[in-house]
Amino acid sequence: MDKRKIVVTSALPYANGDIHIGHLVEYLQTDFWVRFQKMRGADCTYVCADDTHGTPIMIRARREGRAPEDLIAEMHARHSRDFADFQIAFDNYYTTNSPENKALCEDIYARLDQGGALLREKVAQLWCPQCGMFLPDRFVKGTCPHCGKEEQYGDSCEHCSATYSPSDLKDAHCATCGCRALETRETEHILFDLAKFKEYLRGWLGEHTPPDVAKKLQEWFGEDQTLLPWDISRDAPYFGFEIPGYPGKYFYVWLDAPVGYLASLKNWCGRNGTTFEQTWGDPATERYHFIGKDIVRFHCLFWPAMLHAAGYQGPTKVFVHGFLTVNGEKMSKSRGTFVSARTYLDHLDPAFLRYYYACKINSTTDDIDLNLDDFAQRVNADLVGKITNLASRGRSE
Ligand code: 2FM
Ligand code: ZN
Repeated sequence: MDKRKIVVTSALPYANGDIHIGHLVEYLQTDFWVRFQKMRGADCTYVCADDTHGTPIMIRARREGRAPEDLIAEMHARHSRDFADFQIAFDNYYTTNSPENKALCEDIYARLDQGGALLREKVAQLWCPQCGMFLPDRFVKGTCPHCGKEEQYGDSCEHCSATYSPSDLKDAHCATCGCRALETRETEHILFDLAKFKEYLRGWLGEHTPPDVAKKLQEWFGEDQTLLPWDISRDAPYFGFEIPGYPGKYFYVWLDAPVGYLASLKNWCGRNGTTFEQTWGDPATERYHFIGKDIVRFHCLFWPAMLHAAGYQGPTKVFVHGFLTVNGEKMSKSRGTFVSARTYLDHLDPAFLRYYYACKINSTTDDIDLNLDDFAQRVNADLVGKITNLASRGRSE
């Protein structure tokens, strides 16, 4: 029988922060799965990359007085070291700021355009005269129009959970520079016409996503519901790829990030005697994404629709996991439970966490709890107790 050909990805971590133990649930889950497939003899390629574009990276680089390219190079080295020390065996750990990604984004965009899958619309957006830029929702702050809580983000209130648009905020100001004289300006955006793919997606979901995810997503597919167009462009200044034929407009980071999976694979192919067409592009290849439940919308709606519209092969399956809790609660800096990969490595053996997560992960979207007492007890009982005991008996008897 022919070897199974499998391409596997984990979500691309943002280049503006360090890897932490929450991220590691996914990278370890994928690593275990990939090692298992390789041990079974499959021709399995595990690719990932840093997610390098977008406003937060641009703003941080500006604040630190350096080029974004310099910042993302530093973060790539940090991420690579953390992953290597946790023994996560990527076949390729690349970057979305690559020539392969640019070319693939441009190709997909051109195919979407030719296929009539794009819309152009004028959008009104807040503009900061001091920063000289349009402000994404999370870069506007102000007073919640519903409950009056101050210093809330432009898209939702953390106090009362209301959602709104940034122009509804009272006392709206730029989160970066504090400017209160924000202007509303019109700008043309390019949108992906998701509604065109409603029937395709409705059928796709059931076969390619876990049952609980498919069930949740089906809620958006009622007869009277429309899938809203998805805005795939951003105005300069932006750190990303400029859209061909649209000077001053860039691909939104969430457009080029998943394409980064393909770009990382393509880069690996170039160094391993094969091609993108023979791997991702071969209908016989199995293509699996591992993601967290917070990014289902991007991977189970926009991404498969976009690939389908552009005539690319789509994912065979998207596996979705829950969040990490520590002692039953959300990780928190003030409680000391927000632990970076590096802090963990400075104190403990990575094998302990690998083993603990291996005991806990499953195929549902339920959260995974790292209970610190249970962690110590399992490591002592199973790893130190049973395995060491077994090894020492093996030697003496
Ligand atoms: O949510 C995140 O952390 C994103 N950086 C994941 C991107 S996954 C993929 F689409 F690139
Ligand atoms: Zn500003």
